[in-house]
Formats: sequence, C-alpha cells, structure tokens
Amino acid sequence: MRSEKIDIFDTTLRDGEQSPGCSMDLKEKIRLASQLEALGVNIIEAGFPIASVGDFNVVKAVSKQCKSTTVAALCRTVEKDIVRAAEALEKAKHPRIHTFVATSDIHMEYKLQKTRGEVLEMTRNSIRKAREYVTEVEFSAEDATRSDVDFICEVFRVAIEEGATILNIPDTVGYTLPDEFANLVRTVKEEVVGDRDITISVHCHNDLGLAVANSLAAVNAGARQVECTINGIGERAGNASLEELIMTCRVRADKIPFENSIVETQLYATSQLLSSIISFDVQPNKAIVGRNAFAHEAGIHQHGVLSNPLCYEIMTPESVGVPSNNIVLGKHSGKHALLARYLELGYEIGEIDIRQIYRSFTDLADKKKKIYDQDLIAILPDNLNPQAIAA
Ligand code: KIV
Ligand code: ZN
Repeated sequence: MRSEKIDIFDTTLRDGEQSPGCSMDLKEKIRLASQLEALGVNIIEAGFPIASVGDFNVVKAVSKQCKSTTVAALCRTVEKDIVRAAEALEKAKHPRIHTFVATSDIHMEYKLQKTRGEVLEMTRNSIRKAREYVTEVEFSAEDATRSDVDFICEVFRVAIEEGATILNIPDTVGYTLPDEFANLVRTVKEEVVGDRDITISVHCHNDLGLAVANSLAAVNAGARQVECTINGIGERAGNASLEELIMTCRVRADKIPFENSIVETQLYATSQLLSSIISFDVQPNKAIVGRNAFAHEAGIHQHGVLSNPLCYEIMTPESVGVPSNNIVLGKHSGKHALLARYLELGYEIGEIDIRQIYRSFTDLADKKKKIYDQDLIAILPDNLNPQAIAA
C-alpha cells in the first residue's frame, strides 16, 4: 500500500552545474527550470547567490518564473550569504533558504578552521537570520557521513530550535554504505526529530556508485526528501540520479512504498533537454535514459522480448517517455516524420513553429550524419516545453 510521500529536491542547476562540462547560462537554466516544473519536482535548487552575479540572477529569474515549485537558494552559515539569498528569492511564491556548514572533524579543522562550539554558533545565528526572511529553512550538515554522530545530533537540535524544518544529511564524498546510512537516518529520527513535523532529507554523491542505493535505504529508514539531479550530474562522480530513484520507486513499489509527484513520462525529455544544453551526453548504458537502456542485441533476448516484453524488460520505454518508433531522421525526412517524433517526445508543435524548426532541422541534417533526440530538442524555440502526458 502506498501512503506517505517523498519530496523530490532537484539540484541540477546548483550541484549539477558544479561539475566540469556542465555550466549553463541564464537562458538555459530558465528553460531547464521550466522543464523541471513540468516534470513535477517539488523543489528546485536554483543556485548559490553569493557565489556570483550570474548565480544571483538565475535564482532571481527562476523565483519569478516558478508557479507551484519551491525555489531554494544555497548559502553558507554566513550572514552576507543569507541576505543575498533572501534578496534573490524575493519574488518566489515558495522560497526556501538552504544553509550548510561542515560538521566532520576533518572539514572543521582543515577547511573551516573552526571548533565544534563555533560551528554550533554559526548554525544558530544563520538559521535565526534566515528565519527573518522566509519560513522555510533547510539546514545541511556537510560531510555528515564522516562526522561524529553525537555532534551532528547536537547541531541538528540547534537547527530545529532556531526554526529549520528540513534537516539534510549529505553524503558529501560518497563514502557511506546503504545499511550504515539507513542507521544514521534512524538515529537522527529517533534522537533529534521524534514526532515533530520536521523533514529528514538526504543528499548522496556517487563516488562509489552508491548514491541511489544509499538514498533509497535512507527513504526506507525515514527520510522524506531526496536531493538528486537529472542524469546524475554533479560534483566529481555526480549526485543521485533522479530518473533512477523515481523508476526504482515505481518498479519496486513493493519494497519502497512511497508516492512522489514526478510525471514519469517526462523523464526522457528532461534528460535529453539537459544533454542538449551541457557538453556531454549520458553514457549509452545509463539506466532509464541511456540510448541502450531498452535495446536488446542478443538473439535469445530479442526472441524473449518479441514473445513477451516482460521477459527482459521490467518497465516499458513508453513509461519513461522514450519514443517507441525507430524512424531514423535525416536530411531526407519530411515535416510529418519530424512532427511525429516531436509528439513522441512530448512536444506539440504548431503550424507557425514547424516551418522555422524544419528549416533548422534540415540545416543540421546537412552537417550531421546522425540526429539524436537531444539535437531535436536543442533546435526548438526556448519557450517550447513538452506537455505533461499521462503514462
Ligand atoms: O554535497 C554536499 O554536501 C552539498 C551540500 C551543500 C548540501 O552539496
Ligand atoms: Zn553535493
């Protein structure tokens, strides 16, 4: 039985962008934010406003544009960061300030050069300041998985006392293991949260390839917000991949019985849009959205799938929005084939737009041997977003 809901916090525009080859400009981020809203994420972390004027402007623009989605801005536990984040969030219908400080001994000693007492005070002061501007404050204990558990609990208690309602437990360096991480979540739940209306969040990096497994173990232990990115992009080996989290919850609802608000048929189009913006594609064998995720090469597999797709497929390509036809688009293709492909990707193109898009398509087809879905998305006008199509 599905009952409780988990919130999906997307940090593609912030943590995702913090990796080589992933920088995006203002226009691209606005476009992606509007697609993330169509995808149904609950929170978009739009940037780190004190970090640059560019980030400030993105948070401001995304705040203005988002209708139903909460917009979060990241800041250190430093007053000037909080004031800048609040300024950037001014127009947001649902603003959230997300403040963080490192709690592991190694980070406190070598990066912050602060004592535990000082970190506790920084936490207290920054959350108090943030609450002057917004009602929703998230606090992250950076490098939580390498921190002393009693100390994290102490910091989280201070965060709650000052009004934070979301406590984030980041596995900043991708070090933890699923059972160990689940125990940490349980400890925070039992020792700090109790029956108060506080959300436990998790934020996992993928250095050992365990970000999704760790996030799901945390959900089963009581976390109700998961931080993730499209295509799993992010610092170093990336963050937990949104599409993998969502489809694992869908396919294994028997073991992970929680609702979420993601429109699964938008997963592929969102992944393709991101690939069309940043400088690299997902690897072909990437789960859910890779080019080979639903391809069957071996004869025995092909025979099985043709007899009954369930022989080798645990979900259908259509359920995540992967087009089902194999029409190859090239310079000899006509407008009808192009329109049909766009429709499968979730884009309904009108009479006026198709002339312009078709021209861009034929220009591209003159230059490129193979046209991928992400190329088709890249040539669309900026204001065109896919419709949310029911599965
Ligand atoms: O990985 C991390 O610890 C972070 C925090 C800022 C949440 O990105
Ligand atoms: Zn991170």
